[in-house]
Amino acid sequence: NWTMVNIAEESIEAVRAQIGDGRAICGLSGGVDSAVAAALVQRAIGSRLTCVFVDHGLLRKGEAEQVEKDFVAATGVNLHVVDAQERFLAALAGVTDPEEKRKIIGREFIRVFEAAEREIVGESDEPVQFLVQGTLYPDVVESGGGTGAANIKSHHNVGGLPEDLQFQLVEPLRTLFKDEVRALGEQLGLPAEIVWRQPFPGPGLGIRIIGAVDRERLDILREADAIAREELTRAGLDREVWQFPVVLLADVRSVGVQGDGRTYGHPIVLRPVTSEDAMTADWARLPYDVLQKISTRITNEVREINRVTVDITSKPPGTIEWE
Ligand code: XMP
Repeated sequence: NWTMVNIAEESIEAVRAQIGDGRAICGLSGGVDSAVAAALVQRAIGSRLTCVFVDHGLLRKGEAEQVEKDFVAATGVNLHVVDAQERFLAALAGVTDPEEKRKIIGREFIRVFEAAEREIVGESDEPVQFLVQGTLYPDVVESGGGTGAANIKSHHNVGGLPEDLQFQLVEPLRTLFKDEVRALGEQLGLPAEIVWRQPFPGPGLGIRIIGAVDRERLDILREADAIAREELTRAGLDREVWQFPVVLLADVRSVGVQGDGRTYGHPIVLRPVTSEDAMTADWARLPYDVLQKISTRITNEVREINRVTVDITSKPPGTIEWE
């Protein structure tokens, strides 16, 4: 619509005015905010923007490819990919405590991201003075309060500012709400899978495996999660459901029977929720036939899973994530 066209053009102009003929870098998380911010700045300054994507191996099926291929195809952005999967797996080995996992993932993320920034700044023949961030209006309001929650969030979001690298911040989405950012993303021609992505926690699948994280468990969860998302989309419900975590109870086994054999596999938990802002949430009343399809497909297609359960707890008292 015309309002979004105006917002896009005005924002592109404002970014051009701020950056001039300088250079900028931007961290991509796979989420909508950083993608729209990067696309906007790309329109404003073209190849003088470099994006960094840290693949920590904790994303869902297809998400890394969406950033590396589809986003690049849609925007023509310069992308620097860091494959840090081994490093994150090694750091997480044997760790089961949720807050410990968060700390490790946040710490490793910042280290890898800063190393990539230094590399890009070092390789550039001109100074890189600007760091682009996908800060939204609600984030600005939240950080103003200086609450613990905001600190935790900024810590895990992409682009935490390295203290010894002096960048000026470019925050083209600072006055916008999520729905406006999505409209802007569509306006800029980003893929629907990115524009309409549901919120996803920075620590990713690392906090959706109850128990220690390893490659095999990640692969099991990724398959189950992909099926659940696919069926939700097929049913046309993905924009009504706020988030749909799928959680692997990796240290729990239960007995089942399949074909002519006894199985001893893992349960997974479906956690579809509706919400306005994630502060409170209700469990989503998914139609039985959609749940049935997801259950049948997961138990048929993911060998290690022999039981599918649905979490019917609201928030409070439950949180959206299990960890
Ligand atoms: P909970 O589980 O507390 O989650 O109800 C509320 C919202 O925050 C997301 N979440 C996180 N996001 N880093 C993030 O970037 C985290 O460590 C984290 N933990 C939870 C969660 O997905 C939901 O949208």
